[in-house]
Amino acid sequence: MRSETKLFEVFLCKSLYALIPFDMKYKALITTEEDKSYLNAIEERDVSDLPNHDTLIKVKFSSLNYKDALSASGNKGVTRNYPHTPGIDAAGIIEETTGEKYKSGDEVIVTGYDMGMNTFGGFGEYIRVPEDWVIKKPDNLTLSESMAFGTAGLTAGLCMRKLLLNGLKPEDGDVFVSGVTGGVGIISLMLFKKLGFNVTAITGKLDQEEFLKNLGATNVIDRNTLDLDLISPLQKPIYAGGIDAVGGKILSNLICSTSQRAAIACCGMVGGLSLDTSIFPFILRGLSLFGIDSAESLIEVKEEIWNNFSSSWKLENIDENIKDISLNELPNEIDKILKGNQIGRVRVVYD
Ligand SMILES: NC(=O)c1ccc[n+]([C@@H]2O[C@H](COP(=O)([O-])OP(=O)(O)OC[C@H]3O[C@@H](n4cnc5c(N)ncnc54)[C@H](OP(=O)(O)O)[C@@H]3O)[C@@H](O)[C@H]2O)c1
Repeated sequence: MRSETKLFEVFLCKSLYALIPFDMKYKALITTEEDKSYLNAIEERDVSDLPNHDTLIKVKFSSLNYKDALSASGNKGVTRNYPHTPGIDAAGIIEETTGEKYKSGDEVIVTGYDMGMNTFGGFGEYIRVPEDWVIKKPDNLTLSESMAFGTAGLTAGLCMRKLLLNGLKPEDGDVFVSGVTGGVGIISLMLFKKLGFNVTAITGKLDQEEFLKNLGATNVIDRNTLDLDLISPLQKPIYAGGIDAVGGKILSNLICSTSQRAAIACCGMVGGLSLDTSIFPFILRGLSLFGIDSAESLIEVKEEIWNNFSSSWKLENIDENIKDISLNELPNEIDKILKGNQIGRVRVVYD
């Protein structure tokens, strides 16, 4: 009986799909390659141009991440082929599906996997993706709120999950967040605050001190004081843990400033790709260093984080520091994030 019902649903979906005009148009940011330079413009495309996956979603919100800016500026480690539509985040409503798990009308969130890399992403009014990439939006979170978090929030949440699983508690001591005015950083700061930690915010924008203190930072320090060749393999133990969105010399120095049994989760590389360290903090202080890859995280782990954001990690003020923009404004915001000039999160809102 169940399989008959399923067959009927699949038949219905396919029939509905047939009703969607083949040449239904949608708007998207298209990155094109011309003589090794990359241009971003808003263009009209056909829904039939989207890749041949099982779930078509009308995107209501997306958000801008550093990785999107890399894709939109020709970083071949992110996107191999152009023309392409970036956007590693999307929240919207299923228009039609032939998959098993969802039905049309479901409100869903999609982040990462190949979306926005080599599969057309959330900077278009429609996406078509495999249902294995799709998460049902939790009840106590709106689609709009989910894209205030986006991949940046998910990554902060994945970092936090690792640190908490390692046993980090507020009474263990101060924690740090680097790249704190960026997307990952700002949500990491808010989460640490929500969970009762004393947070040192490490930033290159000292003019944002008051803003960061209002969000919950106890101290704000200049990132230039850490952006130095390694001073010593073991420095004064200051931090019980932290979230690093920067890498390079800043992370190298932070690793040496941790107390006994500390844990750091690292996810970013805006400050550099290499790490200069020694074995000492690991074997003399028992430091754990966790790497986070949000895109390829297991779908059930992503679901756990989204459920946390709708319950015990709910950030009531998540919407306060979001810049809402239209698709047309994206090229300008992409330039800003590439230059490290973005503060907080940028959410793309569709009509
Ligand atoms: N591993 C993953 O799964 C994952 C997921 C999402 C993002 N990421 C990575 O995490 C990093 C942050 O992403 P995001 O979306 O938060 O980016 P973002 O919004 O651009 O924020 C990055 C922040 O880093 C700081 N910064 C910029 N240039 C810097 C430099 N040259 N040296 C040191 N700090 C610099 C700035 O903050 P201050 O001025 O406050 O210092 C900036 O706001 C990126 O490398 C991104 O690729 C990784």
